[in-house]
Amino acid sequence: MPASLDRRELVKILGGVLAALPVSNMLAGCSNNATAGSSAADSAGNSSESDAAASNSGNGSKTLVAFFSATGHTHAVAQAAADALDADLFEITLAAPYGNEDLDYNNPDSRVSKEHEDESLRTLELARTTPEHFENYDTVLLGYPIWWGISAWPTNDFASGNDFTGKRVVPFCTSASSPIGQSGSNSAELAGTGTWEEGTRFPSSTSADEVADWAVSLSQ
Ligand SMILES: Cc1cc2nc3c(=O)[nH]c(=O)nc-3n(C[C@H](O)[C@H](O)[C@H](O)COP(=O)(O)O)c2cc1C
Repeated sequence: MPASLDRRELVKILGGVLAALPVSNMLAGCSNNATAGSSAADSAGNSSESDAAASNSGNGSKTLVAFFSATGHTHAVAQAAADALDADLFEITLAAPYGNEDLDYNNPDSRVSKEHEDESLRTLELARTTPEHFENYDTVLLGYPIWWGISAWPTNDFASGNDFTGKRVVPFCTSASSPIGQSGSNSAELAGTGTWEEGTRFPSSTSADEVADWAVSLSQ
């Protein structure tokens, strides 16, 4: 049986297993590092750094789930999607990360409020802009939280700082209530390369079931 069929079957099986787990459980074992950490799925040998390393150095279709997350919700969704697709995970992190007080949008003097008020402050230095072996990925899922109706701006630096030529890009976001709106097409415009699809919004505390269903549907 061709390797591609094996992979599809694996994805379906894994999606079923993930459906039984709440997203919060899946976060318990996940790392903040740029590559996949020690999630429950990793322990089972289904999604792992070793898989990633092996396929990164080889050929074949490759998916990367890149995400920015300030308080963990988008991270959980990204992890669930990466597990469901046996994809690699890349966390977009800032050279100067936000602390809790920085994220207080009720305080007009907080860092995030100031950045919101003054667009010139929203260009931020990323700890790392380009994931390792980025050229090897043909599909990139790009996740971020919605801030004041738009994508959290560290996403902008990732979009503008990378070459998506030849890649399929699928945005997704988490939010308390706002829709994804124009955030995906704004990122596409900033990137200027790649084939960007319409994005999907998840509630902040969505289920692993919902994420796995969505992720698997992308490859069907
Ligand atoms: C600075 C800031 C602004 C936000 N603005 C919105 C908003 O406009 N609409 C909304 O529905 N949620 C908003 N939220 C809530 C986040 O989108 C939501 O909690 C998201 O799931 C957080 O993802 P994260 O945990 O990955 O950072 C905001 C949160 C923060 C910190």
